Amino acid sequence: MASADSTAGVDWAVLEAAAVAAMKNAYAPYSKFPVGAAALTADGRIVSGCNVENASYGLTLCAECALVGNLHMTGGGLLRAFYCVDARGNVLMPCGRCRQLLYEFRAPGMELMTTQGIKTMDQVLPDAFGPQHLEEPGDTNHE
Ligand code: THU
Repeated sequence: MASADSTAGVDWAVLEAAAVAAMKNAYAPYSKFPVGAAALTADGRIVSGCNVENASYGLTLCAECALVGNLHMTGGGLLRAFYCVDARGNVLMPCGRCRQLLYEFRAPGMELMTTQGIKTMDQVLPDAFGPQHLEEPGDTNHE
């Protein structure tokens, strides 16, 4: 029986297609490495984003940055399932910074398609720092 935080019923093929479509909008003239990301929200929306580079190189916006912006621009909420692709449509692991972005907006039990199959947010960002650590400033015993 599916629990409230289960991602059972997630249509991963729909997410893959949305990620591929997003990737086609990428602006990646410097790396020539287009990326697309898509996610299913807890209330059933699909949000997506592509990477957007600029001449500074270092200030590049990953696809996940656009995705979380899209999440908030379309009603906010939390993410249930996530899929990221490269130019060939192959699954791409989110970079370290983007794992943190995704962690902030994870729904309980959020899952990601990875190069090793479906994993939970906690598996791809173990022992994460998050909003819970800001609740009691000065308390070093963060359980
Ligand atoms: N990139 C993303 O968009 N997301 C990731 O999680 C990994 C990297 C982009 C940033 C840059 O435009 C290109 O891929 C090469 O690093």
